[in-house]
Amino acid sequence: MTDPASAPRFRNPRARHNFIGRTCSITGVGAYVPERVLTNADLERMVDTSDEWITTRTGIKERRLAAEGEATSDMAARAALRAMEAAGVGPADIDLIIVATVTPDMLFPSTACLVQEKIGARRAAAFDLEAACSGFIYGLEVGQQFITSRTYDTVLVIGAEKLSAIVDWQDRNTCVLFGDGAGAAVLQNREGSHGLLTVCMGADGAKGSVLCVPAGGSARPPTPQSVDQRLHYIRMDGKETFKNAVQAMHAAAREALQRCELEIAQIRCIIPHQANRRIIDAVGDRLGATEDQVFVNVEKYGNTSAASVAIALDEAVSTGRIRRGDLVLLVVFGGGFTWGAAVIEW
Ligand code: UT7
Repeated sequence: MTDPASAPRFRNPRARHNFIGRTCSITGVGAYVPERVLTNADLERMVDTSDEWITTRTGIKERRLAAEGEATSDMAARAALRAMEAAGVGPADIDLIIVATVTPDMLFPSTACLVQEKIGARRAAAFDLEAACSGFIYGLEVGQQFITSRTYDTVLVIGAEKLSAIVDWQDRNTCVLFGDGAGAAVLQNREGSHGLLTVCMGADGAKGSVLCVPAGGSARPPTPQSVDQRLHYIRMDGKETFKNAVQAMHAAAREALQRCELEIAQIRCIIPHQANRRIIDAVGDRLGATEDQVFVNVEKYGNTSAASVAIALDEAVSTGRIRRGDLVLLVVFGGGFTWGAAVIEW
């Protein structure tokens, strides 16, 4: 007799669990946001803006800012330790650390190496992954490749950002949008669980300049002029980004559902990248989702880039919005452009 747990619920061969072999589950999640809160009222005193404008255009009410001297690796390490505790693993169990970030502590060494030292995971290999706001989903896909191929047993995927370090606090177009924080997930094989069913990723390098930090890399190394011209801060064409985000997130989510032969109604919780309430609503509407299926916490943290869905996933799990066996859809979009979607059986 077929064991119901291993019966093929989904037939599409691109859905990972149909492969005979090892599956990959998220066995623990954790998040960390810094204590300091920057409200819309605070921003009214910094630039020409209003709580009313920010709330109606973005849904954001407040965001968190890292403390003086608190780096991306500090926030990443705190989130990682919480995820490890939830998964019941110690530092010696970690085989690989992947940190998704656009705000590394420095150009090198990687933030993942700094996290390795901070959490004492001396056995682990470590590297950073850069896919802007899509980094956490890209990280899940990369991490699961190591698990399903049996290369590693325990992979830590972290999305962590200190965006306050690259936000132009004189530019009202962007400074109201972003915040700092970190989220982490432990990936392992869990017997009798399907785990990550599929992950879709995409990119469009032709749109790179729409959302970028122009200087500071090898193309335009820092000079006094680049600092004067404020080229080390985030530049974004908001409307172009908005339009592309809605289209790409919708398409990625559809593809992920199709691969698993699932209807949107079967998904318990949809966790979209938390950039703008209007983008989240538009994607939910296009997918035909009900309001209570879509997880939103953008009002508390703003856009935390690679940390965004990782923080939201932790909150959804800790508040009981996601329970064991539920189907979860993650969907993201960011600079690059990059995008992605993942279906998980929790
Ligand atoms: O993480 C990667 C993904 N990132 C995103 O998804 C962000 C996508 N884009 C957006 O979320 C939106 O485009 C924004 C929230 C950035 C802007 O909303 P919008 O409805 O596209 O506004 P807009 O850019 O058309 O600006 C409308 C007006 C402009 O004034 P004029 O030119 O019409 O007189 C802006 O100067 O609003 C003005 N404005 C502001 N006013 C008050 C822009 N920022 C502000 C502000 N406060 N903070």
